[in-house]
Amino acid sequence: MSERTFVMIKPDAVRRGLVGKILSRFEDSGLSMVAMRRLTVTSDISSALYAEHDGKPFYQKLLDYIHSGSVVATAWEGPNSVKLARKLIGATDPLEAAPGTIRGDFGLAIDENIVHGSDSVPSAERELGIFFPDLE
Ligand SMILES: Nc1ncnc2c1ncn2[C@@H]1O[C@H](COP(=O)(O)OP(=O)(O)O)[C@@H](O)[C@H]1O
Ligand SMILES: [Mg+2]
Repeated sequence: MSERTFVMIKPDAVRRGLVGKILSRFEDSGLSMVAMRRLTVTSDISSALYAEHDGKPFYQKLLDYIHSGSVVATAWEGPNSVKLARKLIGATDPLEAAPGTIRGDFGLAIDENIVHGSDSVPSAERELGIFFPDLE
């Protein structure tokens, strides 16, 4: 079934000029981009996006990282897009992520892991609502 997912290129990847290469991975997979915006994440947005991690040891570090520069927020559509995007992104820790995945190819460490992807259809709907409230 066609579904939508949310992918965010994080500040380290934007700083390093990797936006085009990362978008190509998703385009090459056959998914269609339905929305994109570059923005600086405010604390309202980051606390909504990462609410599930509030209280974890890395939470403050995660917020500082996400606030450290611009991000590129994107919405993608296609069959099983949530699972497919997570597969293209790879494991959370770039050290564990397989070669050929985005984190495996471009990341160095878990605290700067290049890209975010929704982990389920309900998460995708929630996260798309935060970044693209007008997306129909
Ligand atoms: N141990 C950690 N140290 C630093 N940052 C972390 C750690 N674990 C997770 N993070 C950060 O928090 C984000 C959200 O974590 P999680 O939801 O578990 O991973 P994923 O992004 O793969 O869904 C990660 O992408 C990463 O940026
Ligand atoms: Mg997650």
